[in-house]
Amino acid sequence: MKEPARHTVTAALPYANGPLHIGHIAGAYLPADIYVRCLRSRGKEVLFICGSDEHGAAITIRALKEGSTPKSIVDKYHGMMGKAFQDFGIRFDIYHRTSSELHKETSQDFFLKLHANGAFTQQEEQQYYDEEAKQFLADRYIMGTCPTCGNPDAYGDQCEKCGSALSPKDLVDPRSTLSGAKPVLRPTSHWFLPMDRSQQWVEEWINTGKLDGAQHHDPKEWKPQVLGQCNSWLKDGLRPRAMTRDLDWGVPVPLPGAEGKVLYVWLDAPIGYISATKQWAIDHNEDWKKWWLTGDSGSEAGMTRLVHFIGKDNIVFHAIIFPILLKLHGGYVLPQNVPANEFLNLEGRKISTSRNWAVWLHEYIERWPNRQDELRYALATIIPEFKDSEFTWKDFQDKNNNELVAILGNFIQRVFVLCHKYYEGKVPEATGGDEKDVLLWAEMNTLPNKVAEEVDRFRFREALASAMQAARLGNKYLTDTEPWKLEKTDPDRVRTILFNGLRISAALSVLLEPFLPHTAERLRTMLGLGPMKWDDALRADLIKPGMQLGKAEHLFKPIDDAAIAAEVERLHAMDPATPNPAEPNSTSTSSVQAHQPSTRTTASIKPNISFDDFSKLDLRVGSIIAAERIPKADKLLKLSVDLGEATPRTVVSGIAEHYEPEQLIGQQVVLVANLEPRKMRGVESQGMVLMSEDANGKLLFVQPKEMITPGADVR
Ligand code: MF3
Ligand code: ZN
Repeated sequence: MKEPARHTVTAALPYANGPLHIGHIAGAYLPADIYVRCLRSRGKEVLFICGSDEHGAAITIRALKEGSTPKSIVDKYHGMMGKAFQDFGIRFDIYHRTSSELHKETSQDFFLKLHANGAFTQQEEQQYYDEEAKQFLADRYIMGTCPTCGNPDAYGDQCEKCGSALSPKDLVDPRSTLSGAKPVLRPTSHWFLPMDRSQQWVEEWINTGKLDGAQHHDPKEWKPQVLGQCNSWLKDGLRPRAMTRDLDWGVPVPLPGAEGKVLYVWLDAPIGYISATKQWAIDHNEDWKKWWLTGDSGSEAGMTRLVHFIGKDNIVFHAIIFPILLKLHGGYVLPQNVPANEFLNLEGRKISTSRNWAVWLHEYIERWPNRQDELRYALATIIPEFKDSEFTWKDFQDKNNNELVAILGNFIQRVFVLCHKYYEGKVPEATGGDEKDVLLWAEMNTLPNKVAEEVDRFRFREALASAMQAARLGNKYLTDTEPWKLEKTDPDRVRTILFNGLRISAALSVLLEPFLPHTAERLRTMLGLGPMKWDDALRADLIKPGMQLGKAEHLFKPIDDAAIAAEVERLHAMDPATPNPAEPNSTSTSSVQAHQPSTRTTASIKPNISFDDFSKLDLRVGSIIAAERIPKADKLLKLSVDLGEATPRTVVSGIAEHYEPEQLIGQQVVLVANLEPRKMRGVESQGMVLMSEDANGKLLFVQPKEMITPGADVR
């Protein structure tokens, strides 16, 4: 295929509903940044687009939780996320936002064009309505039991436990998350995208790369898991999907009779890439069209290469739905690739925002100032390219100490120290070379292409290892040639060796720049070099004899065990499920300092009930005498609770992610003792344990402060 004229690279617009953590970075933004930096260094024309996704129920639910408004939520987190990206050197050309006026216009125009093209069907539907909150319930406002796995806390659009895509009507025992009420069905009318009509071309496009009879891309370049997810959707058959919602937060549907309706967030968000481009073009007096359009209005067809970096939960939206929308609109390029990554786990568990099991970027930067590259490095070595991977603080320490310090930092240090010792920090002149040098350059010469080729194939872990190979070769070269032993007998040879060492250092500053931009810049400064391009990496005349070098700085510092232990302890202290091992009773206090920006919040209070209603409740203290996991239900524990009755009660509780069974034996809890028994995963639950949960998702049992006889009444 022809070399593209330019690259439009997007990174998923993160929801502005919370701060960024390492999972976001490893999953989308770091690989995207590495990719873009490498392309730029190679002189390609690139536009790197991102911004905050500020619509949808993700935002309104957060606002409800924080007792705030959607507007102040997005303002707060948009600012935080923008800063975190900046701090970590994720260098977008623009970090835009979907609450902007320009985005509203752009997405409304896009919608109207689709509408005019006959892309939608209008359908009346029965939809869940909350009579107490007096509103239609977006998918995310409905929870219930997953029909597939029995998870009692599945959302109306998805079960996060088993990953099934759901629609609200699939849920067993649906409940409104606004009021807790049982929702009722009411008719409402929406614009649907009949995706079934696109099934055929999408199938062909995904699997053969052919579009309108021409070869659009090479499907062999797509990751197998991306193709796999797409094909599993296609196999099920694409179905009509509503493109509008009854919600008061979002881009209003620009059609008569659509009051109170907004564009579906997954319609408006990807258009955010386009509106961001428009804003960038306005800011820089540039043309937005060539980055998006085919044919006349833009550039030569197929000459813009669109690539979407995303996490695996976004695959269908970027590889199927958005392409359908772009094609039905007409005139737009379609993605050449959607290099989605899998998920990053943390210390053996899933990263969980609500449970604060995460390493937050804004906190990392405070505790590890000026050590962004250390985190970038550790994350780049574990990007979940083909399967889920795991971050541990121990691995972070190992990567720092054994690779950054011992290999890269050490090599640079040795070269600079010797140059200062022998030549007062001036670049020595090389004279000739022997076969060790020939071998060295033979290997070095392969690296720039190797790294670039691996980056092009989205193999970032391999690419980083190849770039680091230059430092390994450098160390080996010094060890083999031992210049410190030769200075007395063969000073000419030493000059050549150290000149070569400086050339390797210069090459490292180029090859590592996409991964470690801050370090690369420090290294260039030490070498007295300005900005360089990829092709400069091995230029023999880059380093000029006589040039003054900077001080022999240490690029990296070792990290000791205590610092790592503190991080691990901190992580556990933040999470109520795992008491801080150092402080057995610390779950309630230690978690306070650690939570994410804690705007104090209470969910709004439910409407009053009568005393009579209240007195119908029978609340009792019970002692947990046994607890076990329920197979294949990761959230559920089966408890035996002694209420002083003849036999203990069996209670199923969704707390398995917060408490270990062993930890529960002997604990007293408060039970709703007269709740209608209910079957969950085949186990009849005879009561419900009271829990208290704060806005940060911290979950604790409600417990009497001292032991009391089981069966005691709670009033
Ligand atoms: N906000 C979505 C998420 O965090 C991603 C949106 S990507 C876009 O999962 F293309 F729609 F913008
Ligand atoms: Zn499920």
